Amino acid sequence: MGKFITLEGMDGAGKSTHIPNIIALLASRGHEVISTREPGGTPLGERLRALLLHESMDAETETLLMFAARREHIARVIAPALARGAYVLSDRFTDATYAYQAGAKGVDVEKIAQLERWVQADLQPDVTLLFDVPVEVSVQRLASARTPDKFERESADFFSKIRTIYLQRAFDNPARFRIIDANKPLSEVKKLVEEIISTV
Ligand code: TYD
Repeated sequence: MGKFITLEGMDGAGKSTHIPNIIALLASRGHEVISTREPGGTPLGERLRALLLHESMDAETETLLMFAARREHIARVIAPALARGAYVLSDRFTDATYAYQAGAKGVDVEKIAQLERWVQADLQPDVTLLFDVPVEVSVQRLASARTPDKFERESADFFSKIRTIYLQRAFDNPARFRIIDANKPLSEVKKLVEEIISTV
């Protein structure tokens, strides 16, 4: 079996910046690396992503579509890659559904847990890097970023709920999560990421 690594954090926390470096580090150790993302990661999943990021919809519809895309992603990409011993790096996974759909949008956590059991069975990330920044930093970074998607236009209160859930999940699952202070200068964050990846 390979390893399943996920990246999480609020919009604007800067996680995506580190993906090329993580891929290079893992590949330099001789691993096959699959870099992917959620929502998305398959042709169907990317079509669902376009809907999820730009169409307004009921929060439970959104949750169901996230898990539909996730099922496709696991069945066609993640599970086969892990089975052949590859390292799978996913820019977001189910922690994002707990943070965004339950934490910020109020979907019942138990419904998400049921979908998680159905769609994932016992698949969980081996390691999750949580890029943590104060809400003001995230909001400020987003304000100067490219055209925002549906989620990126949300309020500071929305992001504050997301941060709370992410941190709570990290404290509840200390063996899986590594919290990264992404408010530090980029070179320091890069070093922290490298230290963590060297242990995976
Ligand atoms: P993001 O990962 O930030 O990509 P980009 O850097 O291209 O903007 O965007 C994905 C958005 O989808 C993000 O705002 C969080 C949201 N999302 C959920 O609400 N629930 C989920 O389960 C997932 C995977 C993502």
